[in-house]
Amino acid sequence: MSAPLDQSRAPILEGLADYHRRSRYGFTPPGHRQGRGADPRTIEVLGADVFRGDVLASAGLDDRLSRNGYLEDAQKLMAEAVGADHAFYSTCGSSLSVKAAILSVTRGEGEILISRDAHKSVTAGLVLSGLQPRWIRPSWDARLHLAHPPSPESVEAMWQRHPDASAALITSPTPYGTCADIAAIAEICHRRGKPLIIDEAWGAHLPFHDDLPTWAMDAGADICVVSVHKMGMGLEQGSIYHLQGDLVDPVRLKQCADVLATTSANVLIYAAMDGWRRQMVEHGHDLISRTLQLVHEVREQIDEMPGLHVLGDELLGAEASHELDPLHVLIDVSGLGISGYQAADWLRTEASIDMGLSDATRIEATLSLADDETSLSLLTDSLTALSAAAPAFPETPPVRRPNPEQLELPTVLLPRDAFFGPVEVVPAIDAAGRIAAEQITPYPPGIPVVLPGERINAAVVDYLTSGVAAGMVIPDAADPDITTIRVVRDELSTRPGED
Ligand SMILES: Cc1ncc(COP(=O)(O)O)c(C=O)c1O
Repeated sequence: MSAPLDQSRAPILEGLADYHRRSRYGFTPPGHRQGRGADPRTIEVLGADVFRGDVLASAGLDDRLSRNGYLEDAQKLMAEAVGADHAFYSTCGSSLSVKAAILSVTRGEGEILISRDAHKSVTAGLVLSGLQPRWIRPSWDARLHLAHPPSPESVEAMWQRHPDASAALITSPTPYGTCADIAAIAEICHRRGKPLIIDEAWGAHLPFHDDLPTWAMDAGADICVVSVHKMGMGLEQGSIYHLQGDLVDPVRLKQCADVLATTSANVLIYAAMDGWRRQMVEHGHDLISRTLQLVHEVREQIDEMPGLHVLGDELLGAEASHELDPLHVLIDVSGLGISGYQAADWLRTEASIDMGLSDATRIEATLSLADDETSLSLLTDSLTALSAAAPAFPETPPVRRPNPEQLELPTVLLPRDAFFGPVEVVPAIDAAGRIAAEQITPYPPGIPVVLPGERINAAVVDYLTSGVAAGMVIPDAADPDITTIRVVRDELSTRPGED
């Protein structure tokens, strides 16, 4: 066993401090030369330190051969801190990390089991990889109109139907903070010698406290992907993919990320992840304990406000989620007679606060370790004001939400073939029965309602068009208003047998 590493070190931050101490000057990108060339008006808004820390990673921060090993060492410290065999830093968000994970477990063709509540960055990986998705059914909650993570039984059933699939991929926590029974699912996959990938984009903090849902590596997952900017203290786009066991080749995983990644990784993003790991190792437990205490109080306070309800117990239990991260404060606003979209818009305009998620009936405050009494009072005061203002809100058109069966569109073409093949643009009203050639994703939470290769139905078109009329945002569709939809021009081929 190797000696424990010194977790009080932060190699990338130390390297950056050394860079400044030596007054290094690069005749290399970035051309702004640590801000010397940047427009003063830009610096006035961004701050000089942003440019000062923005240096080239190799032949800049580290030498041409990366002989100081800043990044390597930071990744080793990270892996040790969370009990993984390997940790790889990415500056391209979990959007890249999940794609690298998907590519690493395949041979560029074949099948993969994926929970249909996957984020659009995961499903975009299907377009890139050419894989045939075999959809694991999440536990659709018809009453709450949301998807809980899939049960171990549904994963087992899918392996029985598709034993040749290369891996299973599950999202846990979901953007609602609900978590799968990862240990049981890992056991099912490993019995077949197949790897389990967990998209844990919302779970960066989980390894650092026992009162939070189980961390995917502890539960036996092979790869897990986290966004450090979501629930950690990283800068936007900071993501880590962790690996353990021998079912996935670390070299292949790293090379799959390399084919997708930028060659100009942002040192600021690396450095923030490095500092966050040290902070978590040294203070994470205390910070999380304090936050959890505050979160439980604030959840109760909000739940007692007229017309508001904080979802909690109803998200857990049989056929629902295994665990819940209470930092996701999911608030039903329908008791105020308003939509989540109206609530989020009013809170932004009138109270200058932004919510993590909004849908037809809910808003979500995603809390973090940075929140304290002051920020939580801002939240509760703003929600009290929302409650008082809501009766004067105009009526919004209803969102006609499909039932779970209607949401399960059959996949009849490979996502890649549908996306890259000949397309035509049809009025949304005529899209029912056609095969989608684009991804259509209400954002947030970013779970596609329609994927390339799926046969669209009328209920889903009605959901999207009524949703847009009520305030739903669909940034990835060619026509975000959903008056038209891109569909496959000729039904070239169909691949029967999808769920
Ligand atoms: C479940 C899930 N996976 C992956 C991603 C992509 O993460 P990133 O924003 O770090 O690229 C998101 C983003 O919201 C997400 O919610």
